[in-house]
Amino acid sequence: MFKGVLFDLDGVLTDTAEYHYQAWQRLGKEIGITIDRAFNEELKGVSREDSLKLLLAHGGRTNAFDSEQFAELAQRKNEYYVEMIQQVGPKDVYPGILDLLKHLKKEEIKISLASASKNGPFLLEKMALMSYFDGIADPAEVAKGKPDPEIFQLAAEKVGLTAAECIGIEDAKAGIQAILASGALPIGVGRPADLGTDIVLVASTKELTIELLTSVWQTANK
Ligand code: BG6
Ligand code: MG
Repeated sequence: MFKGVLFDLDGVLTDTAEYHYQAWQRLGKEIGITIDRAFNEELKGVSREDSLKLLLAHGGRTNAFDSEQFAELAQRKNEYYVEMIQQVGPKDVYPGILDLLKHLKKEEIKISLASASKNGPFLLEKMALMSYFDGIADPAEVAKGKPDPEIFQLAAEKVGLTAAECIGIEDAKAGIQAILASGALPIGVGRPADLGTDIVLVASTKELTIELLTSVWQTANK
């Protein structure tokens, strides 16, 4: 049986992936770069700095800003984002998530956060989910962000496990690659068109029950 679940946050526990998109869109507009949802799939799960690099490359502006300006742009995007997440509360937790966390706790399965976001702990507090988490991987502690496996390995380590003993849950392509590379078993939240057909996907977090996780684990370990 799996001993831990490693959760992504944005787009898995709540809809903040949408706010990241809106904040990047706003910043992009200010510097003359237009982005759409298809391009945003490339940004999901990716760190703030790496996302900005992708955005600039997308607009053909890779070398347009020096390091000071780059830092200012990243900070400005974060300010837009932080402004939007002030209103997040327990009502914004995605369907099925609270029940899943409660069931995992009851079964003494460890719960750990593997989010690339430096705003993760703030959001867990806002959604009143902090007490469910046995561990949080601090993205500042990892050298390479998703799709590198490090954040998932660290999240497992934080709860005394190896990634191979865990299920990882993600809504992003980069995140699923990171889970696969870490040795954890992935479950994706999203559409096959965005996430591929190689792993188990659910269309909604409502489907993320402990029964589903158990059956995915058993099928993979047959
Ligand atoms: C990830 C999001 O969870 O965190 C990305 O999917 C985001 O969109 C990344 O860029 C970093 O977040 P933050 O809050 O530290 O800028
Ligand atoms: Mg995500």
